[in-house]
Amino acid sequence: MSNEVQKPAPDNGVPRHVAVIMDGNGRWAKKRFLPRIAGHHAGVETVRQLVRACGEKGIEVLTLFAFSSENWRRPEKEVSLLMELFITALQRETKKLHENNVRLLVVGERDAFSPRLQDEIAAAETLSQHNTGLTLVVAANYGGRWDVTQAARRLGEKIEAGELRAADITPDMLEAHTVLHGLPEPDLFIRTGGEMRISNFLLWHLAYSELYFTDILWPDFDARAFDEALRSYAGRQRRFGRTGEQVEQGKGA
Ligand code: IPE
Ligand code: IPE
Ligand code: MG
Repeated sequence: MSNEVQKPAPDNGVPRHVAVIMDGNGRWAKKRFLPRIAGHHAGVETVRQLVRACGEKGIEVLTLFAFSSENWRRPEKEVSLLMELFITALQRETKKLHENNVRLLVVGERDAFSPRLQDEIAAAETLSQHNTGLTLVVAANYGGRWDVTQAARRLGEKIEAGELRAADITPDMLEAHTVLHGLPEPDLFIRTGGEMRISNFLLWHLAYSELYFTDILWPDFDARAFDEALRSYAGRQRRFGRTGEQVEQGKGA
């Protein structure tokens, strides 16, 4: 499946691609003396609102870290409840996402999921594949190191097949084999929950993203909190190695 998004980049301070580590569900629940899974349930509602907000603002891609390759280390009970939550969320939300012209992509190592969950994912992706609104990328059993490794492996296979010379490998070529191929790079990265780390999320793609961290716990990350992140983004100067003066001059040209 091609991930291609073919639209010019808007120069209005609105990011084309927002990538989010949705963190803090467990602490949100703990504060309320609730089981951790109650926090994950509350987090689904935040996702719903954020998807709507992104659609309204004309953001093209929203990538959400839903389950990391390291999250299997959690207690078995929490993992199985999270898997159930994915299934019910897909069943409940797919139709509405489709009606709202959202295209869903799920990226990560899917083989580890139950056949039932894999089927639900495939059905949701197929249903929404031609939609032209927001592209919603859900990273599930995703790890940045895995992504770069599988891309490298595929280039290696081409070398073995005699289709490619090692000396001809370019960054673009590697990028083209990562799971976000064809999508614009994340302009804005948001992590809720107060931790200042990447936790093996998009290691390749965050190279030049603007980073935004907030202490707000994911279930509390509402429209206002998102607007605040967007305001912070809009106020930054993205230099990509150039000087501030060069960037200013480029704007006037
Ligand atoms: C993020 O919230 C959701 C997942 C990792 C699935 P956490 O569950 O990590 O919440 P905290 O960090 O324990 O508060
Ligand atoms: C990162 O959150 C993964 C997701 C949000 C899905 P974690 O809460 O698992 O990250 P660490 O382990 O605390 O860094
Ligand atoms: Mg956490």
